Amino acid sequence: MPLTPTEPKKRFSVVVIGGGIGGLAAAIGLRLSGQTVTVIELREKYLGQTGGARQGLNQTANSYTCLYALGLEEPFHKFADNGDHIKMRRYSDGTVIKAIHKKKRYSKLHREDLLRILYERAVEVGVEIITNETFESIEDTQQHVRVQLQSGRTLQPDLVVGADGVHSKVRKSIPSTKDITASPTGDCVFLVNVPKSVMAKQPSTAALYKSGEDPFHFTVGPGRCIVSWTITIRELYHLQICDFQYGDGKAYGLAEKDDSPLVSTFTDMPALRKRWGDFDEAIRTLLDETDVCTKWRIAETPLDMPWCSPTSRIVLIGDAAHTFEPFAGQGASMAIEDATVLSCLIARASQDPSLTLADVATAYESLRRPRVDAIRAMVKANAAIFGLADGEKQAERDRNIGGEGFSVGGEGREEKGAYQGTAKWSTEEAYEFTEGYDAVKEADGYVFGREG
Ligand SMILES: Cc1cc2nc3c(=O)[nH]c(=O)nc-3n(C[C@H](O)[C@H](O)[C@H](O)COP(=O)(O)OP(=O)(O)OC[C@H]3O[C@@H](n4cnc5c(N)ncnc54)[C@H](O)[C@@H]3O)c2cc1C
Ligand SMILES: *[C@@H]1O[C@H](CO)[C@@H](O)[C@H](O)[C@H]1NC(C)=O
Ligand SMILES: *[C@@H]1O[C@H](CO)[C@@H](O)[C@H](O)[C@H]1NC(C)=O
Repeated sequence: MPLTPTEPKKRFSVVVIGGGIGGLAAAIGLRLSGQTVTVIELREKYLGQTGGARQGLNQTANSYTCLYALGLEEPFHKFADNGDHIKMRRYSDGTVIKAIHKKKRYSKLHREDLLRILYERAVEVGVEIITNETFESIEDTQQHVRVQLQSGRTLQPDLVVGADGVHSKVRKSIPSTKDITASPTGDCVFLVNVPKSVMAKQPSTAALYKSGEDPFHFTVGPGRCIVSWTITIRELYHLQICDFQYGDGKAYGLAEKDDSPLVSTFTDMPALRKRWGDFDEAIRTLLDETDVCTKWRIAETPLDMPWCSPTSRIVLIGDAAHTFEPFAGQGASMAIEDATVLSCLIARASQDPSLTLADVATAYESLRRPRVDAIRAMVKANAAIFGLADGEKQAERDRNIGGEGFSVGGEGREEKGAYQGTAKWSTEEAYEFTEGYDAVKEADGYVFGREG
């Protein structure tokens, strides 16, 4: 059933812990289908918070289909830049290797802008949002689930949604996942935002900044790549500078093992400029003009951890359930898909009182796991082909990428875990798989079985 305001036969009360992208999307979906929803969020406020880790987000059709179902079509396009080409550039001289055409448009926006539209919609549909708050403990038994908030309040909902991100404390509250943490993969991404006025100074950088029109560049080099685009509404050019050989940070002058937090402010620009000194003039100029960026060490959770507690009263979504590397721009999209599928399943249970939370939990895991695992495998393959060193393989990639027959092995990445076999990149088939997914349709089409 569509996520439009409905009168449920049975009304669930839900506490969503973590009001990030996934948590707010779930809150909206659940509320639209008639449940009562409270969000518990650590951050002090949503509007007017500056910084936001300088993060831009890639949103493809699979994600914005969900956002439309949540009633966000109009605000989403107010903040996003759209395009249907990806311009792939060569690192050493910035020449465009290929302009890859995509059937479905992609959208790019700033993370804080996506949070803002989700927050405003959640308030509009009647979600209770408690900011500057977290929980002390969760008691999860066959009889009930109880959430003890830091402020002293106790909540006893039917369902707890754990949407508290990569370091999830909800995950740690479930006995079967309490020891699971996200471990650094050795990859690192530096997030740089350059003002439009600075982009205009030089012809090479001015050429990268074209407001709103096909804003996406993708510069590939040995062991590294840069994805970059305009964020027109903020008059910014956003770069995600991805180093697949970051390791312990030796190339950036770190003598010891890097034990900085996953996300931190980075100011050693001379080290960054040195490491990226073999990239083209436009990139070098932008790094010269920048004195601070966000450093994001990439971590991932294991593949096979459970996403629901044994009582089915706690369900994990988004990064809390599955953090993976960002090299297909799909992490937030998976959180939004999780949220949409869960909302639709709960909506069905609220219309059919014979369905239990255990039925919902089984359906949620069996719909979401194969999808998330496949996207993760694609991410591994991406990192392998984006970072090819100059040579025969790289020349072959540059000739064939975007063509129908193009498929890649994940060579050199298998030892890192998940990825085995081959994956296709930028073919119609791969795009259809990633972007043709309709979360509402999947959840509505699920056939509930009754055997244990
Ligand atoms: C460099 C980089 C680039 C990326 N680019 C893209 C991209 O282009 N496209 C894309 O789709 N994805 C991208 N991702 C992935 C994306 O950022 C994440 O997958 C997404 O943010 C996950 O959403 P979430 O809601 O699960 O978690 P988060 O967005 O992390 O939200 C968690 C929320 O929970 C709150 N919280 C945490 N702990 C508690 C607590 N104890 N109590 C209460 N609240 C708590 C936090 O304050 C936060 O608001 C990228 C990731 C990285 C690292
Ligand atoms: C958030 O809570 C802390 C105490 O836990 C308090 O000192 C601070 O003022 C609160 N911030 C806001 C914006 O309410
Ligand atoms: C955005 O997603 C598409 C499809 O997954 C992918 O081809 C593209 O590389 C992604 N862009 C970024 C910036 O990650």
